[in-house]
Amino acid sequence: QNDLFKKLVAHCKEYGFIYQSSEIYDGLSAVYDYGPYGVELKNNLKDYWWKSMVQMHDNIVGLDSAIFMHPKTWKASGHVDAFNDPLIDNKDSKRRFRADVLIEEHMEKIEGKIDKEITKARKRFGDDFDEAMYRETNPRVSGYVKELSEIEARLGAAMSNSDLADLKQMIEDLDITDPDTGSRNWTEVRQFNLMFSTQLGNIAGAEGKLYLRPETAQGIFVNFLNVQKTTRQKLPFGIAQIGKAFRNEIVARQFIFRMREFEQMEMQYFIKPGEQMKWYEYWKETRLKWHLALGTPKEMLRFHDHGENLAHYADAAADIQFNFPFGFKELEGIHSRTDFDLGAHQELSGKKLQFFDPETKESYVPYVLETSIGCDRMFLATMSQALQEETVTGANGKESTREVLKLHPALSPIKCAILPLKRNDERLVNMARDIFNNLRLSFNVQYDDTGSIGKLYRRQDAIGTPFCVTVDFEALDDQTVTLRDRDTLEQERVHVDQLEEIIRKRVDM
Ligand code: GAP
Repeated sequence: QNDLFKKLVAHCKEYGFIYQSSEIYDGLSAVYDYGPYGVELKNNLKDYWWKSMVQMHDNIVGLDSAIFMHPKTWKASGHVDAFNDPLIDNKDSKRRFRADVLIEEHMEKIEGKIDKEITKARKRFGDDFDEAMYRETNPRVSGYVKELSEIEARLGAAMSNSDLADLKQMIEDLDITDPDTGSRNWTEVRQFNLMFSTQLGNIAGAEGKLYLRPETAQGIFVNFLNVQKTTRQKLPFGIAQIGKAFRNEIVARQFIFRMREFEQMEMQYFIKPGEQMKWYEYWKETRLKWHLALGTPKEMLRFHDHGENLAHYADAAADIQFNFPFGFKELEGIHSRTDFDLGAHQELSGKKLQFFDPETKESYVPYVLETSIGCDRMFLATMSQALQEETVTGANGKESTREVLKLHPALSPIKCAILPLKRNDERLVNMARDIFNNLRLSFNVQYDDTGSIGKLYRRQDAIGTPFCVTVDFEALDDQTVTLRDRDTLEQERVHVDQLEEIIRKRVDM
């Protein structure tokens, strides 16, 4: 499982899906950049979400609100007062948490050293660089890797055991000092707010203090009446939004699972008070179906009910958890937020945020049912189930392994690659280019002649391209090409005029 995760992280980098932010300066922790294939996959995920939420619902409309909002927003929402990690009241738990944070930060430093060595080596060896091999064989890197896995194992054991002595011993053995106190004693947990703040113009002090939004939802709440009036919606109706959110997470070590800058896809559904349980059940089912429609096996997903353990704004909440390489973890949240947010904004702003019901002639603050999914977390879930290693038998009977990304074709960054059998034959190249220029009007396709066909196939498998078209000499005579299927590896002869329809059938959701 751990190996799978490491492979996934390496694959994301090697094939241009995800890079560490500011890598040339040794990176910025828990911040990542999406490369050329990553941005395509992420856009496809967003597109699929947007279509199924906005386009397919008569009563859900979109919004793109600003990241910066009036500072009172965060007072009303409760984020200024209650958005702290950890919300732990027991002293020993606090100590255990603090020790965990310090050790995790120590591990982050070691990971940074590994990344630095890998980056150097990648530059040195270029195309031939094999990261997995290097991790095992380079003495310095393998030393760090070993150190890291030992700390990880020891930390896991110490955390599951309620005795603090093991953690204390670890802190001593690893020579860790608390950056706040400079000592090895970790007595108190810093209570610190998870919101990032900045300053507006030249307004000094608290007056000009702005926050980077920690959720997109509040932009929806404060626009509730604008949207309801301008689109003449009646209850129930929803507002959907995709956008960046920022949280100064304390522990952020699991690649794009927990980031400090990330993207959310959120929908707030405004309903009649008292109907929240009906809509809670409806949206739990609807959202689960959305995941299943992408081909995610049922057993990889499960609901986790929050029970009594609810956020300050909710009267019921459940997560959709996904079985990540490191276990079942939250992928999406479905929250019954009552009238907490609209009520609080109404009170603090002094503006009415109510719906006038033309049937009952009553005005009231609607209740809200929220669905909220992290785009990056969905990306990680998608990649972790798609990446597979397979043994294949070549035409010569020889076995080899191939790394293949079995993405749903609707999500694949490239839908089809067009490959001339020989790059130094002008007729093949011209025909392949013609096919490419034709198909690119409809799909994101790629022309490639930079290697042998076998090598080019492997590369397309690794980025999840569902189809490859090979243009050979026969094609020049009868306008048929070889169409190779990524998953079955079957190759069929099809006429060039059929290509668009065949591809469309597979890549449409
Ligand atoms: N508006 C409700 C809200 O923000 P949340 O459970 O805190 O609820 C919703 O976040 C979703 O956003 C999570 O299920 C997760 O997918 C994603 N998310 C939250 N924090 C994240 C982080 N630090 N990095 C990446 N994704 C995150």
